[in-house]
Amino acid sequence: MSQNKRQKVFIFDTTLRDGEQVPGCKLNTKEKLELAVRLEELGVDILEAGFPVSSPGDFESVNQIAKTLKNTVVCGLSRAVQNDIEVAAAALKPAKRFRIHTGIGTSDLHIKYKFNSTREEIIERATAAVKLARNFTDDVEFYAEDAGRTENEFLARVIEAVVKAGATTLNIPDTTGYCLPYQYQAKMEYLSNHVAGIEKAILSCHCHNDLGLATANSIAGVMGGARQIECTINGLGERAGNTALEEVVMVLNQHKDLGYYTNINPKLLNPISHEVSEIMRMAVQPNKAIVGANAFSHSSGIHQDGFLKEAQTYEIINPAEVGAEDSKIVLTARSGRSALAHRLQKLGYQYTRNDIDILYPSFLQIADQKKEVKEEDLQAMAAAYNK
Ligand code: KIV
Ligand code: ZN
Repeated sequence: MSQNKRQKVFIFDTTLRDGEQVPGCKLNTKEKLELAVRLEELGVDILEAGFPVSSPGDFESVNQIAKTLKNTVVCGLSRAVQNDIEVAAAALKPAKRFRIHTGIGTSDLHIKYKFNSTREEIIERATAAVKLARNFTDDVEFYAEDAGRTENEFLARVIEAVVKAGATTLNIPDTTGYCLPYQYQAKMEYLSNHVAGIEKAILSCHCHNDLGLATANSIAGVMGGARQIECTINGLGERAGNTALEEVVMVLNQHKDLGYYTNINPKLLNPISHEVSEIMRMAVQPNKAIVGANAFSHSSGIHQDGFLKEAQTYEIINPAEVGAEDSKIVLTARSGRSALAHRLQKLGYQYTRNDIDILYPSFLQIADQKKEVKEEDLQAMAAAYNK
């Protein structure tokens, strides 16, 4: 499907807010500003810069980011509390374009245990917060915390009330990562079909990864009518994390038939992943999709043989497309003769099939003793053979 027929999905990055909540990932203003500039280059549409009322340092970070970014909408989080909203507005004021993100828990669990309140009172507090935020900007996003476990009928009442109060983006968080993809999709469809005035606003996915479903749920949410995804680089976030930006972007990119596109430059995905990992001192798991060290490594003989004949047999993405290093052929005791010949050839040894047949048993002997056969092992093997 050509890009002009596809619909845009807005990317709302919350690496500097939900991502930074991870223990050990806290950033100072300089570090936050540096990443904000990189995220703007990456092409995020909205950047959640922090939670200004939470500390003077976070106020300062949001304020500096608001002063610096050129095109990206800068967003600040608040609870449905007057002072939170006023402080967020003050921090965001210098931005070319800013959004206030305000909200409240809507599930019965949150209403009872967090707020000791009632459904009716929650609707009143939600609408009052949105009306107050609208005094500072016409770009107001409302979050219904724990929407994933909120009964759809009540959720639709809350959302209808906040749309009437002036909310322009409606965040439907699966705060605890509980939903299954078909349930999250159905929730978005229910809201699209039962909320009067919904066409004036954008529905947003905000999925946590407690069951490893954050990416699948976000894509399902888009298929159910959402047009914004909230996500973080490397999937950082509370507990098991948030939806990984690099994953949802590449899902929509790979499956163009779904009919969506984003503004993200995929070539910057690996560089920014490394930068976030370094600055937040949080390693990326090697098997992480798109940005993990092994995302483009091949180690079993069957895969290596296929890959060396035609890369597409075992790779759906060219690593250059996402700014990753070239694919790697890793030598282990599961590797075959083609991989051994390939790696020796890369070191300048042009061996015949017969040479490789002779070398292969000594290669396996080394491989059985080591996790990986390295370049120096190959050099030693070749030197002994060439004697
Ligand atoms: O997970 C969540 O519900 C949140 C909200 C504050 C948007 O992060
Ligand atoms: Zn969250």
